[in-house]
Amino acid sequence: MINKTTSIRLLWIVSPVLLAVVFIFLTILPGSAKPIHQRTEEYCLSCHGKEGNTYALPNGDQLNLYISKDVLSHSVHSPLGIECEACHTEITTYPHPAVAAQSKREFSRTVYTACKKCHSKVYDNNMDSVHAKVASEGKQEAPICTDCHGAHDVQSPDKPRSKVSQTCNKCHSDINHLYEGSVHGKALLEDNNNDVPVCTDCHGVHNIQDPRTEEFRINTPELCARCHANKELMDKYGLNSDVYDIYKLSWHGVDVSVYKAKWPTIWHDSAVCTDCHGVHDILKTDDPQSKVNPQNLLATCQECHPDAGPNWTGAWTGHNQISLERTPFVYYTNLFYSSLTPFILWICVIYVVLQIIHLMVDRARRSLK
Ligand code: HEC
Ligand code: HEC
Ligand code: HEC
Ligand code: HEC
Ligand code: HEC
Ligand code: HEC
Ligand code: HEC
Ligand code: HEC
Ligand code: HEC
Repeated sequence: MINKTTSIRLLWIVSPVLLAVVFIFLTILPGSAKPIHQRTEEYCLSCHGKEGNTYALPNGDQLNLYISKDVLSHSVHSPLGIECEACHTEITTYPHPAVAAQSKREFSRTVYTACKKCHSKVYDNNMDSVHAKVASEGKQEAPICTDCHGAHDVQSPDKPRSKVSQTCNKCHSDINHLYEGSVHGKALLEDNNNDVPVCTDCHGVHNIQDPRTEEFRINTPELCARCHANKELMDKYGLNSDVYDIYKLSWHGVDVSVYKAKWPTIWHDSAVCTDCHGVHDILKTDDPQSKVNPQNLLATCQECHPDAGPNWTGAWTGHNQISLERTPFVYYTNLFYSSLTPFILWICVIYVVLQIIHLMVDRARRSLK
């Protein structure tokens, strides 16, 4: 049986030991387990700042463990104090948790989800895109945030604006090549002109949809009209800003608007802007290669009107207001009819009024008799 004095003695021996244990637990252990918050980068770079180290993933891909200070210093995140742990949330010390990814691509596709934490709206948008869709169907090469923005050297993505097409060029180089030769691409690259469309103006950025659907197609006139119906903008380039309005009045334009009003039963695959002008290879209309240049125009119409003869295009006024300079014959015919019709109408009115007066005078005379 333990008496009172022995229990007090035991307490004297045990309590310093307990205190020591608690002390070690509170100070030393966490101190080594978790570096001070502001020093994460310094801590991580004590190993990752050394060149030459790689880590082999199960499929043989090598992860380059070297993260250069120079690369980091160019990132938009660095000046904001966003350091390693903001994205590598699982890693706080060494040894790191085991790597589950089998390949480099799989590794990227796991880690990039960290962007969601701070850019949730962009992330959700991206999940609705054609890129996310094809990725979910197994196309792992479809782009994720870091393919377009990088991971450790994220920079403003649209300064200068020509950077946008370079971003898409990584995987869509054939289309970018066409674009670079187009009236829009040339103006952007050669004249530094920011009024012309880049890839993302027509396709969106993070929620890019498949542009080969009927829905996208019937909305192309409005896509082009955003700029080409803007009088102030078009005046800068001496271009006609009526092209959209006149297109809407054309057979093709009416066809498309009827379809849009949910009448698919009478849909014909009518011409939209891109059928006549091209898509990524749109040229100035006076360029001999342009699909709408007089020497190529008939062939363009014949894509849908195989029976069109040589007079077919001459009879078409295009989408220009009728004018004395461009279309004198149509202009005078128009002038003739637009003057003659009211003239004849007035003659009719005067004739009827005179008849009525004649009738009334006649009646009055008769009643006097
Ligand atoms: C003591 C040296 C050391 C320190 C400190 C260190 N790492 Fe590592 N890191 C490594 C080594 C070695 C590997 C290779 C894989 C392994 O051994 O787990 C690695 C791998 C990685 C990887 C790729 C594979 C994986 O494990 O996901 C990432 C990401 C990473 N480290 C991030 C960090 C971050 C963030 C920090 C700071 C919080 C950090 N490391 C601190 C040595 C270190
Ligand atoms: C803005 C988010 C972000 C920050 C901040 C960040 N990383 Fe990364 N890191 C990533 C992503 C995403 C990957 C996956 C690779 C990819 O997709 O390019 C990655 C990959 C890595 C790798 C594997 C090798 C590689 O390049 O693929 C290492 C090692 C690594 N990071 C260490 C660090 C260290 C150390 C820091 C701090 C100095 C840091 N990271 C800061 C997002 C970030
Ligand atoms: C800890 C929060 C945080 C994380 C994680 C993060 N970012 Fe950022 N990011 C910011 C902040 C804050 C800004 C600056 C404000 C802004 O422009 O939204 C920024 C800016 C950017 C910009 C530049 C925007 C511009 O208009 O110049 C891009 C691009 C970007 N981040 C991409 C990414 C990518 C890709 C990832 C993942 C690899 C990521 N970010 C992870 C917080 C974060
Ligand atoms: C297919 C390439 C691509 C992918 C994938 C992509 N971006 Fe972007 N991102 C761009 C381009 C290009 C811009 C420039 C904006 C423009 O052209 O209007 C941009 C703009 C941004 C901006 C600044 C403007 C804004 O909308 O807030 C942020 C932040 C950003 N991206 C973050 C992300 C994040 C996070 C992801 C992943 C969920 C991501 N991006 C995926 C290409 C991409
Ligand atoms: C990392 C590679 C990569 C980058 C960068 C990229 N894409 Fe894609 N894109 C793809 C893949 C893969 C598909 C799916 C193609 C398929 O289904 O065969 C795709 C599909 C598309 C589609 C749908 C049409 C189609 O062919 O399926 C459009 C539109 C598109 N991308 C536009 C863009 C734009 C605009 C950018 C730049 C902001 C961009 N992409 C950047 C890889 C990329
Ligand atoms: C002026 C608007 C416009 C611009 C600028 C533009 N596109 Fe397109 N793009 C379209 C239209 C319209 C379609 C649908 C064409 C069709 O019906 O086949 C399309 C189709 C596509 C397709 C899928 C069909 C195909 O032809 O393979 C991809 C991928 C694509 N564009 C990528 C890009 C990229 C990358 C850029 C920048 C270099 C770009 N686009 C610039 C309007 C545009
Ligand atoms: C973001 C604004 C913008 C959008 C969207 C746009 N364009 Fe343009 N486009 C311009 C500007 C600005 C010019 C003049 C460029 C120059 O002459 O340097 C131009 C030039 C042209 C020209 C050459 C006219 C000539 O003969 O000089 C044609 C044709 C054209 N665009 C057709 C289209 C079509 C078709 C679409 C839709 C698929 C479209 N554009 C979408 C801004 C735009
Ligand atoms: C049926 C074919 C056809 C369609 C559809 C069509 N265009 Fe044209 N477009 C032409 C032809 C032909 C010319 C050159 C002769 C002319 O000016 O009428 C032209 C000229 C132009 C010009 C140069 C105008 C100028 O001032 O020199 C622009 C810009 C243009 N079109 C944009 C568009 C836009 C935007 C759409 C859709 C709303 C569109 N086009 C639809 C055939 C077409
Ligand atoms: C993408 C296909 C396409 C292209 C290219 C096209 N059209 Fe059409 N066009 C149609 C369709 C579809 C109709 C409607 C036919 C109907 O209602 O029976 C139509 C109707 C017409 C009509 C009135 C009805 C008729 O058949 O006589 C004229 C005129 C016409 N187009 C002229 C042209 C001219 C001129 C060009 C070339 C500058 C042209 N089209 C290019 C598809 C096209």
